[in-house]
Amino acid sequence: MSVTWKFQDRMLSLGLARVTEAAALASAKLVGRGDEKAADQAAVNAMRAQLNRLDIAGVVVIGEGERDEAPMLFIGEEVGTGKGPAVDIALDPLEGTTLTAKDMPNALTVIAMAPRGTLLHAPDVYMEKLAIGPGYPTDTVTLAMAPAERVRALAAAKGCAPGDITVCVLERPRHDALIAELRASGAAIRLITDGDVAGVIHCAEAATTGIDMYMGSGGAPEGVLAAAALRCMGGQIYGKLLFRNDDERARARRAGITDLDRIYQLHDLVRADVIFAATGVTSGSILKGIQREPGWVTTETLLMRSKTGSVRRMLYRSAVK
Ligand code: FBP
Repeated sequence: MSVTWKFQDRMLSLGLARVTEAAALASAKLVGRGDEKAADQAAVNAMRAQLNRLDIAGVVVIGEGERDEAPMLFIGEEVGTGKGPAVDIALDPLEGTTLTAKDMPNALTVIAMAPRGTLLHAPDVYMEKLAIGPGYPTDTVTLAMAPAERVRALAAAKGCAPGDITVCVLERPRHDALIAELRASGAAIRLITDGDVAGVIHCAEAATTGIDMYMGSGGAPEGVLAAAALRCMGGQIYGKLLFRNDDERARARRAGITDLDRIYQLHDLVRADVIFAATGVTSGSILKGIQREPGWVTTETLLMRSKTGSVRRMLYRSAVK
């Protein structure tokens, strides 16, 4: 007799927090040691070991890369005990490998889980992203608008002047024109050197973080993870895949994408209820990083369920092993 498992998001959520906690604890030893690869590998190993303890029939849809380039947590890898609901997993064992290696703010370990077939299988290409937090009418800002127009539209919706809007942007030469146009609009810009999942999440807590809008291109896989977070916290995100060559177009087709020019909205990126967990590795404005004291380590984890909109911040104190 075959068993049909339900996606028990409530039951699974604590298990998901353990996954990101374990990855953060493993990479903690490598904070500020200048070795991105070692930090990432430690997080991957720990995340995979914890994930495989969960009673799920999981498939990694956003992972460390395609099978031939990632020995573990590759796209298509089956994870979990197999005794449980069929789920899609999107993960980034260490979002901000350079931030970790340099001990700079906002490195996170991140995972999202949703029923099988409901997370976009985003290829590892760039995505043009635009995000704002909750409380605004749909399409207050869109990708079709010029950057300065988005600032004016958001300011009007927020009831403030364009000069009171802060936009978060990855500091990259490819964003020079965007940054110049945003500055000319009067908006302030919070430049980040890496970590656009955290960048987008900042918009959902604008009063705390001071960031109203996220703009610019970054990894498409990170776009799905950010959308999972916003599905829980509220907010809007738009994404359009960007292709630099035919190889990248082929990657997208292999991932099942037929319309290469499509503009994705939150509910296209994450099509069902999702659970999301992120643990801080280095401290930032949304989460504290790993805190050490002799013999002990403490982590802070953001754990959220879109079904209920519950947002928990959990401290976990563990003896140093
Ligand atoms: P890693 O953690 O893999 O180093 O990625 C960090 C990151 O900053 C992402 O947050 C972002 O989406 C992407 O890299 C941007 O890519 P690029 O560095 O090529 O501009």
